[in-house]
Amino acid sequence: MPSVKTLVQSQDLKSLPSDYAHFSNSDKSTVAGPEVSLPVIDFSLLSSTNPDERAKVIQDLRNACGEWGFFMLVNHGIPENLINRLFKTCNDFFDMPEEEKLKFETTNPRFPVMVRSGSTTCDVSNQKVLFWRDYLRFFVHPEFYCPNKPTEFSDLVSEYSQRTRDVNRKLLQGISQSLGLEEDYIEKAMDLKSGTQIFAANYYPPCPQPESAIGIPPHTDHGLLTFLIQNGVGGLEIQHKGKWFYVNALPNSIFINTGDQLEILSNGKYKSVWHRAVVNNKKTRISIVIPNGPSPDTIVSPAAPLLRETPAAYAPMNYMEYVNVQRTSRLNEKPILDRLKLH
Ligand code: OGA
Ligand code: NI
Repeated sequence: MPSVKTLVQSQDLKSLPSDYAHFSNSDKSTVAGPEVSLPVIDFSLLSSTNPDERAKVIQDLRNACGEWGFFMLVNHGIPENLINRLFKTCNDFFDMPEEEKLKFETTNPRFPVMVRSGSTTCDVSNQKVLFWRDYLRFFVHPEFYCPNKPTEFSDLVSEYSQRTRDVNRKLLQGISQSLGLEEDYIEKAMDLKSGTQIFAANYYPPCPQPESAIGIPPHTDHGLLTFLIQNGVGGLEIQHKGKWFYVNALPNSIFINTGDQLEILSNGKYKSVWHRAVVNNKKTRISIVIPNGPSPDTIVSPAAPLLRETPAAYAPMNYMEYVNVQRTSRLNEKPILDRLKLH
């Protein structure tokens, strides 16, 4: 199957090929959100020695995770220059000839998945649906994989993943406290030293009929926190109180969203947020997404200290098993998270 990029380049596409057209306008109605302000977290406050500032950022995290499952992280300390170079090298990867990219493709569905590229398919009522994106995806922790081309790729991915891991750990310390747990509760319970980290780059070329196509359909992420940056072109939408919100990035911010394992761990206090990627007809969009999860072998269950007054709302499950079930589920099936709900 050709990549979407090749499809767009090989023909003068005026209309959307039918394999990609499955969404009606009404499915995708979006609330433009200038009137709502999305939560912003100032990362530098987490290192503050001023107890009031620290208390404020913990409260901000509690609101952001409890109300939205999403926030924009500012003052995170990851150099803009590193991020710009990373986008450049990802773009160079997708610019390589199709045969070159496919050399990195593996069909091995088991951990560790190394690299896959090309369009994504899924089944909707036994009909094949193609998404308007190409992607590249591989594990970077606890074992590090990366294509050896373009030349700089591996070094940049290594540095970015290390830095996001540090930010992730610190955020989870704050989130632990926001739940009334010890600061290091989550990192210990989730064995973050061997935490799972995936590097994913999504490439969305301009689409002739963006309203009928979808980049990624609505889903939740499987891990604890997902980090997302984009090349200045928007497309991420999150669901909030039943409505879809298009999110505009603040300069040099990172989008962070909560995932299924945080929902389980928090016993449902912090719901995993539904989100999707829409496409546009003007500019290529690239998003770089880093899902951060527990170590592969962790059995995730609701945090014991949260169960003193409330019964457990989720059954425990091994994390890698969870990832594999989610990956092989169909779009119209009951999500694995729902199947773990008790009562
Ligand atoms: C993902 C994802 C959204 C985007 O890769 O899991 O939700 O905007 N991506 O690319
Ligand atoms: Ni996602």
